[in-house]
Amino acid sequence: MRVKAEVKKEKSYITTPLYYVNAKPHIGHCYTQIICDSVTRFLRQCGHQVFFMTGTDEHGEKIEKAAQEAGFEKGQEKKFVDTIVPHFKELWKKLNIEYDHFIRTTDKTHEDTVRKVLSTLYKKEKIYKKVYRGWFCTPCEMFWTNTHAPCGICPDCKRNLEKLDEENYFFKTSEYKNALIEYIEKPGSVNPPIRKNEVLSFLKNNELQDLCISRPKTRLSWGIELPFDKGFVTYVWFDALINYISGIGYSDNQKQFKSLWPHAAHVIGKDILRHHAVYWPIMLLALGESPPKHIFTHGWWMIKDEKMSKSKGNVVDPMELIDKYGADAFRHYLLSAVFFGYDGNFSERLFVERYNNDLANDLGNLLNRTLVMLDKYFNGIVPEPGPIREEDIKNAAIDLPQEVGASFAHFNTCSALKEVWKLIGRANKYIEDKAPWKLAKENKEGLKSVMYELIQTIGITAVLLYSSMPDTARNMWSQLGMKSDITSVNVYSKPEEKEKFWGIVPSGTKTAKAAPLFPRIINR
Ligand code: MSP
Repeated sequence: MRVKAEVKKEKSYITTPLYYVNAKPHIGHCYTQIICDSVTRFLRQCGHQVFFMTGTDEHGEKIEKAAQEAGFEKGQEKKFVDTIVPHFKELWKKLNIEYDHFIRTTDKTHEDTVRKVLSTLYKKEKIYKKVYRGWFCTPCEMFWTNTHAPCGICPDCKRNLEKLDEENYFFKTSEYKNALIEYIEKPGSVNPPIRKNEVLSFLKNNELQDLCISRPKTRLSWGIELPFDKGFVTYVWFDALINYISGIGYSDNQKQFKSLWPHAAHVIGKDILRHHAVYWPIMLLALGESPPKHIFTHGWWMIKDEKMSKSKGNVVDPMELIDKYGADAFRHYLLSAVFFGYDGNFSERLFVERYNNDLANDLGNLLNRTLVMLDKYFNGIVPEPGPIREEDIKNAAIDLPQEVGASFAHFNTCSALKEVWKLIGRANKYIEDKAPWKLAKENKEGLKSVMYELIQTIGITAVLLYSSMPDTARNMWSQLGMKSDITSVNVYSKPEEKEKFWGIVPSGTKTAKAAPLFPRIINR
């Protein structure tokens, strides 16, 4: 088995948004999580050094209200959030999400960092006080002006807004407009292109309003107190965005911060694009730091064309689906069903259809019948290939890692998996075309080649499925008779290295008895 080369590793710092802890997580939250986990796993297979961070957003009016509704008294919010956070952690464990750090905005280091950032910006005179007259949407935790919400209705969620007339602190954003446009225009900064254009057109058609970054304690006390005025707490978005630097040591481990921050890739849903692509880069520019290297924006999971959300009451509980169909099937569905950046309608019927087609039929049958034939014709031992070679399937198989890599580079797991399933389809057709059962009677040398090629193709497939379905990939690997850990196989990214993949399951390997990967679902 090849050992990963000791070369200077490429780095990535991948983040999810911090989820509000006003309720248990739903499928929309799982989506970001699974995409990030899958890309992290793939990059690690390519030898990259990846730091993957996720966590929870725990302050603000929305959480304060949820705490009260759950029967917690004012001042007991921390107790309330402590009851919700475990639901997230439990779900991530069940989904095999392997993050390096789970940050909570109630962590002391995070709170200290927020205070430090506020003090720095206040000293730099980037923060000032004035009366705020406008609107606030609690479910979205968003301030709106009369221009954007003339009728008192939230432009995003269409609910009634709360009228505000209060003194607040503001962050000067307007002076950074040109620097921000320059950042957004940089190739690769905001993805996919439709989102880049959305931000640019917002910036070109609107004045950048200074951002209100406080709430008076008379209204809201559940937040981080401003270090320069005890009468106010920090606006929850200003607090939460800072997690991306507080979690990697901005105020307590500069060495780690400096090594990771230049490689930051934020994965977010399209509803929080403006916070990430406008306010956050400006906060960083004001601090003298560079804006995030990449922002990848995905679409929404919908139910009958409406965004799935707790407040609409149309959420699907991921736990139920995982218990019913397994974590890998759930991961596969979310990763493969929707092209990155687009919205997708969730339905259990489509889930089951994809499960049966992709997993039970295409993948499951390929492994199963190959192992059964290998057992029958060669006692389960991978043969030396015969003299006749089928370059066609070999080339498709060894080109696959790079094709998958190109899609993963854009977080497009859907197109990566499409490529993998093309190979699976091809391998199934190869069996039909070559008819090993006929070769067994007429051409033993030809049979050796065909079986060898099928086993190599399945080996490569298993390695490339590890990022999306880690348990299944391990299971396939062990059915192939491989004793090593599948993660020790390097996914080569350079074209000149692709030949190294062929022979991944060496001749002479004794495969295991075939066991179905995904039993077909007949009735639900
Ligand atoms: N707390 C803020 C994020 C702060 S990041 C510094 C927040 N939280 S959230 O819980 O409302 O949403 C977290 C993420 O889940 C967002 O990226 C959002 O787009 C995503 N989703 C919430 N519902 C979703 C769907 N129905 N479908 C896909 N993703 C969606 O915003």
